[in-house]
Amino acid sequence: MMRDQAAFQPSPDAASNRVTQPRFWETLPARWNSDADDTLVCCQVRQETHDVKSFFFRAPSGRAFAFEPGQFITLELEIDGEPVNRCYTISSPPTRPHTISITVKRVPGGKVSNWLHDTLHAGMQVRVLGPSGEFTCARYPARKYLFLSAGSGITPLMSMSRTHHELGEDSDIVFVHSARTPDDIIFARELDLIASNQAHFRTAFVCERMGTRTNWPGVTGFLTLPLLKLIAPDFLEREIFTCGPAPYMQAVRGLLEEGGFDRAHYHEESFSFETLSEIVNEAVAPLTTARVADALQTAGALVDAPGPAPVKTSVETDVRFKVSFTKSNREIECGSEQHVLDAARKAGVRLPSSCTQGMCGTCKVKLVSGEVAMKHAGGIRQREIDQGMVLLCCSKPLSDLIVDK
Ligand SMILES: Cc1cc2nc3c(=O)[nH]c(=O)nc-3n(C[C@H](O)[C@H](O)[C@H](O)COP(=O)(O)OP(=O)(O)OC[C@H]3O[C@@H](n4cnc5c(N)ncnc54)[C@H](O)[C@@H]3O)c2cc1C
Ligand code: FES
Repeated sequence: MMRDQAAFQPSPDAASNRVTQPRFWETLPARWNSDADDTLVCCQVRQETHDVKSFFFRAPSGRAFAFEPGQFITLELEIDGEPVNRCYTISSPPTRPHTISITVKRVPGGKVSNWLHDTLHAGMQVRVLGPSGEFTCARYPARKYLFLSAGSGITPLMSMSRTHHELGEDSDIVFVHSARTPDDIIFARELDLIASNQAHFRTAFVCERMGTRTNWPGVTGFLTLPLLKLIAPDFLEREIFTCGPAPYMQAVRGLLEEGGFDRAHYHEESFSFETLSEIVNEAVAPLTTARVADALQTAGALVDAPGPAPVKTSVETDVRFKVSFTKSNREIECGSEQHVLDAARKAGVRLPSSCTQGMCGTCKVKLVSGEVAMKHAGGIRQREIDQGMVLLCCSKPLSDLIVDK
């Protein structure tokens, strides 16, 4: 997940919007656990639109799922003999705990989305890691929400909307979804159903163009500040969750900033690897000695080697280690302050990565020798760590390394 760094102005009303009661999913014990039980069975495939399908999964053990609405899982697949990982938001709500679904849009030329559409069918098994992610209304309970999504970015907000609906909470939610054409609106009928059941749930669809329709009653064009003010005049008082392609989110941030929205009440998730990586790379670039020492200390419990992680002094933070990649036969230098993935990228070594925050597992590799300080966020199982696997995006070298990649 990423948060934007734009400076929004505080709004006086937003602070009073938060509520503090615990939600039911916060009290559920975690039942399905990808560490112990990493294979799920696809039990149904549904065509949602012409290029979007939902895939439903259950745990062979019969265990129920516990997660926060808006979180994602990572599929660990093997396609054409190559291991490949991709993250997909759980589009179903935690209130339907016996299955989970993901809703996938075909990306032209995309490896995994096309494989899922063309190959995955009921009865097949897939390896899954997760759930992960912090983009969830569960952590920001409020009286009033504004959900803004575009394209397949609807999935986390759909999980949140379904949850509120099925809990019978009649939460005050304005859901503004942007799509290319009316035929591209995912979950249109279900959103209409939720709106008809809940007095305080409103939807507004903004379509770039009419497509094949001649009688589209909704708005055509793009989301603008005047349009947002028309749809949700009280948007300054709402907790806002946004998900969609990078240009859409950039536009949303711009119009909210222009409208004087308090960024403390703004949350966003990107499905775009590049955007995530750029932001994280910017964020890690100016690491200070204090932050490195802090990171190493915090990582002590997760260090890949026995014994406590040594805290570096300011002189030692300049230590540089050699990292050798066995398969590509490359050798690079990596500073003790740098994540290995970051150093590899800078040296032109191409490695698979996605979230760059230790969440998705895409950058998982076997460490043949050496020691790292790894500070992950759920993207690796304990038994994998025990087997010498590491996530390069959140690992800093403590010695020279040999990596099986
Ligand atoms: C937290 C998170 C949640 C997500 N949730 C969802 C979700 O709910 N639904 C959903 O549909 N997606 C979701 N995504 C996006 C998803 O993970 C994939 O990125 C998406 O399905 C595309 O994967 P792919 O393998 O099909 O495409 P990729 O193979 O990764 O390709 C992506 C793009 O790059 C182009 N490309 C690939 N290889 C090359 C090359 N060699 N040269 C030039 N261009 C190339 C492709 O043509 C395509 O346009 C999520 C992502 C994240 C990070
Ligand atoms: S890129 Fe996601 S865990 Fe490393």
